[in-house]
Amino acid sequence: MRIVLGVGGGIAAYKAAELTRLLQQSGHQVQVVMTDAAREFIQPLTFAALTGRKVITSLFSHESSDATLSSAVEHIAVAQEHDLLVVAPATADLLAKLAIGRADDFLSTLYLAFTGTVVLAPAMNTAMWTHPATQANLETLSRRGCEIVDPDDGWLACGTVGAGRLADPARIAERINSLGKTRRDFEGETFLVTAGPTQEALDPVRYISNRSSGKMGYTIAETAAKRGAKVVLVSGPVNIPAPRNVELIPVKTAHEMRQAVMEQLTDATIIVKCAAVADYYVANVSPQKLKKTAARLSLELDPTPDILAEVGQKKADRILVGFAAETQNLLEESRRKLLSKNCDMLVGNLVNQEGAGFESDQNDVEIVTRSGRTVHAGPASKYEIAERILDEIAMLRLSIRGMDRIA
Ligand code: CTP
Repeated sequence: MRIVLGVGGGIAAYKAAELTRLLQQSGHQVQVVMTDAAREFIQPLTFAALTGRKVITSLFSHESSDATLSSAVEHIAVAQEHDLLVVAPATADLLAKLAIGRADDFLSTLYLAFTGTVVLAPAMNTAMWTHPATQANLETLSRRGCEIVDPDDGWLACGTVGAGRLADPARIAERINSLGKTRRDFEGETFLVTAGPTQEALDPVRYISNRSSGKMGYTIAETAAKRGAKVVLVSGPVNIPAPRNVELIPVKTAHEMRQAVMEQLTDATIIVKCAAVADYYVANVSPQKLKKTAARLSLELDPTPDILAEVGQKKADRILVGFAAETQNLLEESRRKLLSKNCDMLVGNLVNQEGAGFESDQNDVEIVTRSGRTVHAGPASKYEIAERILDEIAMLRLSIRGMDRIA
């Protein structure tokens, strides 16, 4: 792709140099545009040396003798010649400017003239990030179709810890690469995705849960939406933001998740059950906080409803994808669950292996289908794994619905 990298004025501006390199290594052509504020943090020469191109720093090239009509309309030419605009770091000020449509420097003017994909990677102090004004601007930009690469949590230049650190350049580059491949091949489908753990209460202050982070399910929901599907995401309690363009239904317990899934089932055409649902719930939840005694405490647990198996019975011509979290015998268990729960496809992963499974940004999976197909995917980022799973679902859909048509 031909990419314009807009660099905003924040401490993280230096990371844009690494992003430039990563984009070039992925085969993209990069043109850098810097705001005045960005030049307070990093010299244009750094980007000129990396890209071998003149860095655009102002709307009017007063300095040059060719201050002609063509330089006055350079933003239009740059907008027309490029496929994607990424702004990293996107400061709070830049987000505000883009949201209200100001055009008082090259980058904001370019944004207004740009008709291709826009990716924004915000970076700022936590209080500025969480401020309703910033969030409202993001909401506006996202509704307008901008892709937002949310910032990471961590140490910030202001000496505090929290959300607001520019996303790792590798994550931004990966998101751009996945956008380059985006097809809208799931337009017309309604995905019902479940994600995260469930929490089963013991008493009003305690619960039993598991280590599922929700990342895999959220990435599948996000990817399906990007590929054109309407997506409903039923999620247990997690610490990650809801993907944009996805309807989120938050639940806590396995019973609540079952109810939400059953309510959404009618409209769904493809169901992906990624959630790590508790297999048991506490039979006698104490209405008051349990008090500590010297005696052993036993809990009575009853089995929860198996939501996947129930959907398997009711699925009709819907495509049903289950997951299996295993610590051993991955393929055997995945095939057993595929058949016993009447799924069309099952994605198995070993959750006790380094760099995969719960909490990790990576995953490594075996995908098995009813037709006997087995595909290994990974180790790779959860974004790449989500794309692979959706590619397999697309193939499965073709074989199932294609065969229907012939019949
Ligand atoms: N699942 C479900 N409802 C449950 C338990 C599991 O819908 N009460 C779904 C999960 O969302 C997942 C699949 O079943 O898609 C497999 O979950 P997993 O925990 O691996 O398997 P279990 O059937 O619970 O078997 P086991 O715990 O014995 O491995």
